Amino acid sequence: MTKTLLLVISILCFCSVFAQEKLMTNAFNREATSLNGYWNYIVDPYENGFYNYRYEPFENQKNPVNGAFFTNSKRKDKSDLIEYDFDKMDSLKVPGDWNSQKEKLFYYEGTLWYKKSFDYNKSNDTNRVFLYFGGSNYKTDVYFNGKKLGQHIGGFTPFQFEITELLKPKQNFVIIKVDNKRIKEGVPTLNTDWWNYGGLTRDIKLIETAETFINDYSIHLNQKNNQQIEGEISLNGSNKINSQVTVEIPELGIKKKFKTDDSGTCKFNFITNRIEYWSPNSPKLYDVILSTNEDRITDNIGFRTIETKGPDILLNGENIFLKGISIHEENPINGGRSNSYEDAEQLLKWAKSLGCNYVRLAHYPHNEYMVRMADKMGILVWEEIPVYWTISWENENTYLNAQNQISEVIDRDKNRASVIIWSMANETPTSNLRTNFLTKLAKFTRNKDKTRLISAALEQQNYNDDPNTRTIADPFADVVDILSFNQYIGWYDGGIEKCKTINWKITHNKPVMISEFGAGAKYGLNGDKDDRWTEEYQEFLYQETLKMIDKIEQLRGVSPWILVDFKSPRRVLPEIQDNFNRKGLISEKGEKKKAFFVLKNYYESKN
Ligand code: GCU
Repeated sequence: MTKTLLLVISILCFCSVFAQEKLMTNAFNREATSLNGYWNYIVDPYENGFYNYRYEPFENQKNPVNGAFFTNSKRKDKSDLIEYDFDKMDSLKVPGDWNSQKEKLFYYEGTLWYKKSFDYNKSNDTNRVFLYFGGSNYKTDVYFNGKKLGQHIGGFTPFQFEITELLKPKQNFVIIKVDNKRIKEGVPTLNTDWWNYGGLTRDIKLIETAETFINDYSIHLNQKNNQQIEGEISLNGSNKINSQVTVEIPELGIKKKFKTDDSGTCKFNFITNRIEYWSPNSPKLYDVILSTNEDRITDNIGFRTIETKGPDILLNGENIFLKGISIHEENPINGGRSNSYEDAEQLLKWAKSLGCNYVRLAHYPHNEYMVRMADKMGILVWEEIPVYWTISWENENTYLNAQNQISEVIDRDKNRASVIIWSMANETPTSNLRTNFLTKLAKFTRNKDKTRLISAALEQQNYNDDPNTRTIADPFADVVDILSFNQYIGWYDGGIEKCKTINWKITHNKPVMISEFGAGAKYGLNGDKDDRWTEEYQEFLYQETLKMIDKIEQLRGVSPWILVDFKSPRRVLPEIQDNFNRKGLISEKGEKKKAFFVLKNYYESKN
């Protein structure tokens, strides 16, 4: 078989992984039966429950043998040979990563199987039922009542499978193989500076819909006319064509009817001059009700415009400075992945107490509670996909993986007013392959969502080999709407005194954002301001850096690294790091370091 044919086949297989059903918009507010709770699990580093001893996948067998874990086989006869039993195994809490739940799984990277059984009676025979996942890290194979539903790749975006045909009133069982092994051609790739939390990290639920239901919609302001609300609604089911859809916004006195076309979709727009625009100072959300003869769904949507004009960022037509902070999706107090409204509220309240009107959710899409809470609290959001450091730019599957991740997060968050920026990548090395990859991704994103800005966390360089003059000499800088870069002058790049010597030569007529800067400090470790790891060093670095970046004329925002100390297997310095990246302004125990107040004062000065 020729190399090309092999490549084509692998891409086709890969595409099939991403060609799942159209993600359900606003599954968040859909009536649902939660499958959260304790799931039995089997740790399977050799993937013994997936492959036979010839390393052939059991799922490819016409009649998979009992040894296939997804058959959930039980000993029926005393002569039966079955070497596993989910129901006698320990359990893990879902949602939750396995690393922070079990000491023995703290460093585990590999395959782990989950099993959950349940009874289910549909409220109407013609209804359909979907198994919906908020997210699972990294490669997830899903089986229902012994049948393969499909696979999802990517640890931070939602996916679903329809189970209507396979569902029984009694004793259904879901079996899920989750594999968080890091792979070179993955997104992210092998090395990152965060803990590779594995497992069913987000909510799982059963969503029952009418036979024909409202599958997908986007509703927003026309970004060029802030009195025009526009959008698109798609139905899924046998009655999707030529079907009436009603859009209601009671508070605005709006109730409009539209008809779907031959593809089951209707596009709409209408004028209203009574909108209270969503902004950090007044995060106004409207109840929006969409209904058809068979289905009805409600959402809470804010209306705002966001654009750039030369070096300015305009929110609802007014200049705004993005007073931000970077955040990892980690529950500071309990450890492990955050995955609830409470976690989101904790993290965003800390950001608010810093004086932030903006957060950078790094380096991957966080759970939906974060963006829903940001909508409520009035915090603008940068969302990013984990195209992080040096991924396999030449690999078409890697590209499709990245594209699918941005596509899924857009499908999830396109109706969230708080989300204003899609970031394509973080600290990626410039090359033609890389720039083509990111440019293609940006083009895809712009096509899919015209109501948000594009950026990426780039790196800065010396201007004409002059180490005291810094610039952005990155071809991708011409593609983005907001020119963002990370800089660590005073930490990885010399000492703090260097900040005074730096000038900037940034020629782009675009808003500039410092997406990262920072220094490590252990809470409670005190000393001189040139003594690394002390709070005084971090404090002084913040003071000097803020002065240094204020020299950039186009500066319109900053999101220092990082709100809270977070776990990383790259940080092993004893008594200081102990598996934590210590660049947080708040320790993992919630203690505010001195630099916290430097940034707070700086943001007050920006009011
Ligand atoms: C990088 C990177 C972060 C990392 C940080 C650090 O810039 O983007 O993911 O944690 O620097 O080194 O602390």
